[in-house]
Amino acid sequence: MNIVVLVSGSGTNLQAIIDAVRSGYINAHIALVVSDKGDAYAMERAKKDGIETLFMDPKIFKSKEDYDKAVVKYLRDKNVDMICLAGYMRVLSAYFVREYKGRIINIHPALLPSFKGVNGIKDALDYGVKVTGPTVHFVTEEVDSGPIIAQAVVEVKDDDTEDSLRERVHEEEHKIYPKAIKEFVEGKLEIKGRRVFRRHEHENKD
Ligand code: GAR
Repeated sequence: MNIVVLVSGSGTNLQAIIDAVRSGYINAHIALVVSDKGDAYAMERAKKDGIETLFMDPKIFKSKEDYDKAVVKYLRDKNVDMICLAGYMRVLSAYFVREYKGRIINIHPALLPSFKGVNGIKDALDYGVKVTGPTVHFVTEEVDSGPIIAQAVVEVKDDDTEDSLRERVHEEEHKIYPKAIKEFVEGKLEIKGRRVFRRHEHENKD
């Protein structure tokens, strides 16, 4: 299985994925890490691990679709089985999503369908919820709305700041994201409508 990871930021989730692949927990190969930010620390993490990287600068493309077409063109040579968005802050075009339908997953830092968008942690804190936490989901054309694979609950404390809450949300992200990727790689996930079910060993044999 060839995995491509799309990033924009510090890449702690990418690191969790790299570690899970290196330890053999996820039986797959990270074929490429793509970033829309030239200075994303995630790219350093990938390079440190000898993973091929691609920085695609949004400024040189007229539209989101043109940008995605250029990325997809690059991915065509890579025999991509799965795309993982790990802190990738660009909304994928319908073109991209259709190209890899059912094979793109994302991690979002709030309990979807609450607090969609780019500020999931701050929005949850400002709203005053008592629990929040990350969601791993399949990516569909509608942003942050695809079938949910996994979620984890993080309690919001009275003295939480955005940073302290982010730290605890990240801890949970680094557990549930590699696990969800492992399940996908092993063919354990089955989408039925909005719901994602786990296939069990005996079902695979039928
Ligand atoms: C993660 O918290 C992820 O859930 C969030 O960006 C962060 C990236 O951190 N993604 C989104 O908000 C997507 N809308 P990382 O670069 O350290 O993995």
